[in-house]
Amino acid sequence: MESSLLRLLLNHSSEFLSLPHLCQQLQRNDLQVIDLLKTLTLWGYTLETHPTLGVRLLQLSAALHLDELRARLPQNHPWTLFHLNETPSTMDFIKREGIRGGADGTLVIANSQTAGRGRHGRSWNSRPELGLYLSVLLRPDFPISSYSRLTIIAAVATLQAAERVTQRRFQIKWPNDLMIGKRKLAGILTEAHLDQQQQPFAILGVGINLIQEVSDFPEELQTKASSLLIESQRSIRRTDFLLEWIERFQNALSLPFEEIVQEWKSKCLNLGESIVVTTPQGKIQGTALDLESNGALLLRDDQGKIHTILSGLIEV
Ligand code: BTN
Repeated sequence: MESSLLRLLLNHSSEFLSLPHLCQQLQRNDLQVIDLLKTLTLWGYTLETHPTLGVRLLQLSAALHLDELRARLPQNHPWTLFHLNETPSTMDFIKREGIRGGADGTLVIANSQTAGRGRHGRSWNSRPELGLYLSVLLRPDFPISSYSRLTIIAAVATLQAAERVTQRRFQIKWPNDLMIGKRKLAGILTEAHLDQQQQPFAILGVGINLIQEVSDFPEELQTKASSLLIESQRSIRRTDFLLEWIERFQNALSLPFEEIVQEWKSKCLNLGESIVVTTPQGKIQGTALDLESNGALLLRDDQGKIHTILSGLIEV
């Protein structure tokens, strides 16, 4: 109900809405609407009340509220949304949902993670409310062998969302790190699992550094990580970023994959460069040539041999 009230207030933010009008629109009585308005105030939304004209929304809450997200998403959106305060990892939450048959598009966001994880067994720094920590359950209509496409799609969507909210330009480091120069702004983790019916599903985890200052990162990350705040001097609200991300991701999922690959390539900072990749088979040094349609990197080593690398870490 708070989301319906917020939708009304957001759609008419420049005008006052009277109590009778709100009651009629929400099919609630005076006391119920007043209670809803009080709830919004408690949540951190600033309302201006006028003795005769009614109420209007002056400022959004700094905190993330799913009701605001629901109010600002199209009414027929396909997402099932969860919001957790603290959790070990949003990946585990979605894995449990997936195993018990949870729907495609189940999305969880956590204020903080106590055991946030990254690729190759690394941890993901997830201090409360400084970044966006989310995981999505996906049941794609392509085979599990192509799930790495999701990583490419998510990398492009994350880059587009970050560029849009900051008006800055970023790059992608293969396969999916959002970078500015040598500093990492966001990372993506894709996992594949089977549910109780033996149906495959994917979990896409995205961590984005939003409003960290340099001193908010552990010392060993201070020269390697950055945030959208550091790079743009803009304090991005998590709700605003999430909305932008959802819109970009949904759009990227609907486009022909070749289009996404082209966008990915145009933003990749490794293609044509000499790199060292650590793979499960060892280190390979060479020139990054191209991206395969399954997300693999084509690398020509110093002896001229071509390697197709599906998973690895590029040294910086
Ligand atoms: C990487 O670059 O190594 C991937 C980082 C992925 C981090 C996100 S934060 C939300 C989700 N939950 C996790 O535990 N990890 C992913």
